[in-house]
Amino acid sequence: MSDLGKRIAQAADIVTVALDELLPRADGPESRLTEAMRYAALGPGKRLRPFFALETGKMFDLPERPVLRAACALECIHAYSLVHDDLPAMDDDDMRRGRPTVHVQYDEATAILAGDSLQTAAFEIMAHPDTHDDGHVRSELVRKLAIASGARGMCGGQMIDLLGVRDDLGAVARMQRLKTGALIAFAFEIPLIIGRAKEAERAALMGFAQDLGLAYQIVDDILDAEGDAALLGKAAGKDAAKGKANYVTLLGLDAAKERVELLAAQTKAHLDIFGDRADHLRESVDFVLDRRN
Ligand code: IPE
Ligand code: IPE
Ligand code: MG
Ligand code: MG
Ligand code: MG
Repeated sequence: MSDLGKRIAQAADIVTVALDELLPRADGPESRLTEAMRYAALGPGKRLRPFFALETGKMFDLPERPVLRAACALECIHAYSLVHDDLPAMDDDDMRRGRPTVHVQYDEATAILAGDSLQTAAFEIMAHPDTHDDGHVRSELVRKLAIASGARGMCGGQMIDLLGVRDDLGAVARMQRLKTGALIAFAFEIPLIIGRAKEAERAALMGFAQDLGLAYQIVDDILDAEGDAALLGKAAGKDAAKGKANYVTLLGLDAAKERVELLAAQTKAHLDIFGDRADHLRESVDFVLDRRN
């Protein structure tokens, strides 16, 4: 495994252990709900958003604990977004991370409640005094996570996705930036908020995050079109079947791949002001865009 592959795997392990400690357990009948939450959040995800937060925290020499807790909160929101995205009313998917989706493993009502409770767990973790000594920092983390998750972020993008955007690449790019880019960008906001970063650093990293988020979703759409369901751990070929508009369905596979190449170069260019301190982030762009799952 490459050095970067090892760093990503190591970060994933740290995050999974931390999430296991943070997520609730219950003894009564509501244990069905806490088990479904744990099934959704602790399954074999790549944990890329937490990895980005932790890696950027290292670049700024920040202590690990606050970044890790905030990254776990973000991963809870991501897990909830996938549980609801897979529901029959949305993408109606049966497989996720190589296992039955939550509504298949449990039932629809449990999946809705597990998503709801993962969302509130995220804010409980973020607002806890263990996340940061300074209440202003905690409230900024909470506020920015709320924006990234809600109508001006992920949920807004999901709404546009469900309504269907037609033949308009600009509108598709905006949808992708909201539904996927906003949570990826928040991964980079975590260290910016905790480290009280300078404006120039904030602008550079946010530009980086936004381009990366868009490229990430285009790759997801490419993998949907040409990927292998067994390797992906989720169904392939569904976007075209469902008539979803994305870079692949609008431009075709080759042109979508060219966009990713262009975006990769543009993404990395934002990091120039950090010099070689950002080498790991630069490398991770190619790594996540060349992924096969
Ligand atoms: C899948 O996200 C949904 C998208 C926003 C593209 P990931 O590709 O990060 O999925 P996991 O967490 O590794 O399963
Ligand atoms: C999902 O996009 C983005 C979310 C906000 C969950 P997709 O619907 O393409 O994600 P997959 O392919 O099901 O993972
Ligand atoms: Mg979807
Ligand atoms: Mg989906
Ligand atoms: Mg997809």
